Amino acid sequence: MPAASNKQRKMNEKEIQAVKQRFGIIGTNSRLNRAIEVALQVAKTDLSVLVTGESGVGKEFFPQIIHNFSTRKHGPYFAINCGAIPEGTIDSELFGHEKGAYTDAKSERKGYFEIANGGTLFLDEVGELPLQTQVRLLRVLETGEFIRMGSSQVLKTSVRVVTATNLDMRQAIRSGRFREDLYYRLSAVEIRVPPLRERKEDIPLLFRKFALDFSDKYRMPAIRLNEEATRLLQSYYWNGNIRQLKNVAERVSIIETNHDITAETLRRYLPENEMETGLQPLSSFQASGDTYMNERELLYKVLFDMRKDITELKQQMAQQSQQPIQPSVVNVGTPMVKMGASTDTPSDEEFQQVEEVHDEPDSIVEIEKEAIRRALERFHGNRKATAQALGMGERTLYRKIKEYGL
Ligand SMILES: Nc1ncnc2c1ncn2[C@@H]1O[C@H](COP(=O)(O)OP(=O)(O)O)[C@@H](O)[C@H]1O
Ligand SMILES: [Mg+2]
Repeated sequence: MPAASNKQRKMNEKEIQAVKQRFGIIGTNSRLNRAIEVALQVAKTDLSVLVTGESGVGKEFFPQIIHNFSTRKHGPYFAINCGAIPEGTIDSELFGHEKGAYTDAKSERKGYFEIANGGTLFLDEVGELPLQTQVRLLRVLETGEFIRMGSSQVLKTSVRVVTATNLDMRQAIRSGRFREDLYYRLSAVEIRVPPLRERKEDIPLLFRKFALDFSDKYRMPAIRLNEEATRLLQSYYWNGNIRQLKNVAERVSIIETNHDITAETLRRYLPENEMETGLQPLSSFQASGDTYMNERELLYKVLFDMRKDITELKQQMAQQSQQPIQPSVVNVGTPMVKMGASTDTPSDEEFQQVEEVHDEPDSIVEIEKEAIRRALERFHGNRKATAQALGMGERTLYRKIKEYGL
C-alpha cells in the first residue's frame, strides 16, 4: 500500500540521518543515501559485501556501519589493509601460524580469522591479495574452515567479511590477478560509493565541515568561500575525492591569513590540469590528496595504460587461439627478473610481468623507470603514495624498484 511504503521511506530517511550523524558522514546526495540504506539493509544478514568506489570517496564508513548494525556488533571488528601487508606475511596475518612455521616464527600466532571469531573483518584493498591467499580466503568463506600456516589441524571460525577496492575488479579478473569465483563470493552485495564530482551538491557542505574542523583544531576563525570560489570547487575534477578536498581545506586554513577566500586564492591550491577542461585526468589515476601532475606525467600515465592494454590483448589473443603463451613467457630464469620476486615459484602475476619486461622495447622500459624515479622523488620515497599515483600495486612497485635498481 502506498501509505505504508511512504511510512517505510520516512523511517528509512530518519535512520539514514541517524547513521550520518553517528559516523560523521556529510552529504545529501541520493546515491550516497542509497548506499547507506543498502548497508543498513544487509547489516542484519551475513552476506558478503564489496564496497567499491574511487580512492577517497569514504568507503571505510561502510564496513563500520554494517558491523555496528549487525548482530555481531558486540563482537570484534578488525580492518586490514591487504595492499600494505607484504606478500610473505599476509597468510600468516590472516590465518595465523604455528611455532616454527617459518625460520623467524618463534612462537605460535593467531591470525585475524581466528581472533575476529564472532565479529567482522574488513579487508580493504582486497584486489591486492596474492593469488595463493585468495584460495585460502575462498575456502574460509565457503566452509568457515582454515588452517594455520605450518599446521594440519582444521580450525573453525565465524567471521563476517566486508571488502573494499578501488580497482576495476572485472579487469583484474580478465588479467588473471583476481579469482573470478572469489569475486562472486565477495560481492553478494556490492555497495558503490559515488565519486565527489558526481555529487557536486555535497561539495560546499563538506568544505564547510572541514573548514570548521580545522578552525577548531588550529584555534583560528574558519575560512569562508565566496560564491565564485564555491563554484570553482564544484567544477573541479577531484581525482582524490573527499580525501583531497579535506586536504585542500586544511592547507587553505593553515596558510591563508585572510579568511574570506576568493576563487583566485583557491585556484592556487588546485592542481591546474585537474580543472574541468577538455582534458580530464585518466580515471584510473588515484591522486593522493595534494598530488600534482604535470603534462609529462600525464603522458607517462597514458603510456602505462597502453602497456597494460597491450599485455591484456596479447593474453586474450593467446587464449583465443588456444595456443600456449609464447616462449618469451618461459624465459623466467634471468637474474634481473628473479631479484624482486619471491623465492617461491613465480605466481601467474609474475609470469605476466616477466613477459612485459622482456617484450618491451628499451625506450618504454626507460620511460617507466623514469616515471617511477620521478614519482618516488615527488612522494619523498613513500612507496604507497607512489604506487597509487602510478596506478600499480605496492608489490609491483617494490619489485620494479629492485629491478631497475632505483
Ligand atoms: N561523506 C563524508 N563526510 C565526511 N567525511 C568524509 C566523507 N567521505 C569521506 N570522508 C573523509 O574522507 C577521507 C577518506 O575517506 P576513506 O573512507 O578513507 O576513503 P576510501 O577508503 O574510499 O579511500 C576520510 O578522512 C574520511 O573521513
Ligand atoms: Mg580506504
